[in-house]
Amino acid sequence: MVNTVIVGAQWGDEGKGAQVDKEARDHKVVVRFQGGPNAGHTVIDDQGEKYVLHQLPSGILTKGTINILGNNVVIDPTLLRQEIRDLQQRGIEINPDNLMIGNAGIIMGYNLAIEGARETVGATGLIQIGTTKKAIGPTYADKCERIGLDMADLHYLSKNDLEEKIKKNLAFKNHVLKFYGANPVSLESVMDPLLAERDFLNSFFSEGVRDALFAHNGAILAEGAQGALLDKDHGTYPDVTSSNTILGGFYTSLGVAPGENGINFDRIIGIVKAYTTRVGLGPFPTKLTGMSGDDGKIGTRLQEKGKEFGATTGRRRDCGWLDLPLLEYAFKLNGITEFVLTKLDVLNGESVIKVAVSHEIGGRGVKYPMNILGLVKPVYERFDGWNEDISSVRKIHNLPDNALAYLNFLQNRLDVPISAIRVGPRRDQIATW
Ligand code: GDP
Ligand code: IMO
Ligand code: MG
Repeated sequence: MVNTVIVGAQWGDEGKGAQVDKEARDHKVVVRFQGGPNAGHTVIDDQGEKYVLHQLPSGILTKGTINILGNNVVIDPTLLRQEIRDLQQRGIEINPDNLMIGNAGIIMGYNLAIEGARETVGATGLIQIGTTKKAIGPTYADKCERIGLDMADLHYLSKNDLEEKIKKNLAFKNHVLKFYGANPVSLESVMDPLLAERDFLNSFFSEGVRDALFAHNGAILAEGAQGALLDKDHGTYPDVTSSNTILGGFYTSLGVAPGENGINFDRIIGIVKAYTTRVGLGPFPTKLTGMSGDDGKIGTRLQEKGKEFGATTGRRRDCGWLDLPLLEYAFKLNGITEFVLTKLDVLNGESVIKVAVSHEIGGRGVKYPMNILGLVKPVYERFDGWNEDISSVRKIHNLPDNALAYLNFLQNRLDVPISAIRVGPRRDQIATW
C-alpha cells in the first residue's frame, strides 16, 4: 500500500470524486483537508446509483475506510447532518468509527447572510466572484481574523460561553449586513441550528486524527477539493476559493510534516479533464461558451455532452479547450507524479480538438501569466478528432489512433505519465494501460 493524493489540476470539477472512489478500496484512511460544502464530488457506483459528496470524503462510500476531515475544512452543521442522514438512509454506514472530524471551522448563519448579500448586492462596488454562496470566504476570513468558531468551541464551551462569543461577533456582523443594505440576523437564528446539531457533530469530533493518520501511514488517501487554479495563494486570485487546494494544504490542515518522521505521498495524482471548465467568474483564456460563431457552438456542445452543470449549485459551467501552460503550472504546484485524464468520451465526434500550447500578449510570449490571465491570447495546436464511441474501451491502447495521438502529445508535453483515462461517469468506465 502507498500514500496517495488526488488533486484537481484545473478550476475544479475535473472528476476527482470518481477517482477517489476508485482508489479508496486500496487505502485505509481517506482525508479531506480543505474546502467545505462548496465542493461537489460525484460518484456513480456499479449499480448506476449516483452520490454527490459535499463535505464528506468520497471514501465514505467504501466499506472499511476511516474518513477524516482536517482542521482547515469548514463545516456547515445543518448541511453536514443532512448529508450524513441522506447517505445513511441509502444504506451507507457512517458512525464515529469511520468518520473523524478534527478541529474544523464552523460556517455560521451570519456569514451565510453576509455572503448572500455581498454576492447579490454588488452595488457596494466590491469584487464579485460568483461563489457557491456557502459562506466559504467569510468563514475562512473569520478564522484568520481569529473570531471564527470551530469544532473545539462546540465541544468544550458551555452554552453561555458559546452564546457570549457569538453575540460579540453578531454585533459586528450585523454592521456589515447593514453596510450591504441587508437585514440583520437574530441571535436565535444563528444559535438554534448550532445547538440543534451540536451533540451530533460532537459525536464525530476527534483529537486523535494525527494518531489515526500515523497508525495507517502507508495507506492514506488525501482528497483535494476544487482545483489548483482556485488555490487562494497560487490560483487566479481574486477569482479563487479561500483555501489551499494544492497538496501543501494537506500538511497545514492535518498538522503533519513530510520527511522521515512524517507523511509522504508516493503517488500525487492530478485529475485533468480532457477540456477545461470553469464555474463562477474570472479569466478563462481558452473559453468557448459564450463566444461567437463555431467556437460558441463547440462550447455549448461540450457543455451539453459533458453535462457541465454544477454538482453543488446547478450553475452552467463554462467550457473551453485544454490549456497546457496552466496545466504545467498546476503540476508544478503539486509535484504531480501521474495524471488521470477524465471525460475523454465527451470529445467523441469532435472533428477538431484544440489545445493551447502557449500564451501571448500583443504577439509576445508570456510565461507566468497567472496575474494577468485576462489579457493573454492562447496559441493553439490542432488535433484531428475521432468518431468512435470510446465509452466501453478499457485498455488505453484500444483507443482510436487520433485519441492516442492526443494523449501522447499531452504526456510528452507535460512530461508526466497518464495512469488512466476516464471514458464515462460510471465506476467501471475507466481505461488503463
Ligand atoms: P469533482 O468535483 O472533481 O469530483 O467533479 P464533479 O463530480 O463535480 O464533476 C464531474 C462530473 O463528470 C460528474 O457528473 C461525474 O459523474 C462526471 N464524470 C466523471 N468522469 C467522467 C467521464 O470520464 N466521462 C463522463 N462523461 N463523465 C464523467
Ligand atoms: P469541486 O471540489 C468548481 C468556485 C466558485 C467560485 C470560486 C469561489 O467540486 O471541484 P467559493 O464558494 O469557494 O468561495 O467560490 O470557486 N468553486 C468551484 N468550482 N468546483 C468546485 O469544487 C468549486 N468550489 C468553489 O464557483 O468561482
Ligand atoms: Mg465538483
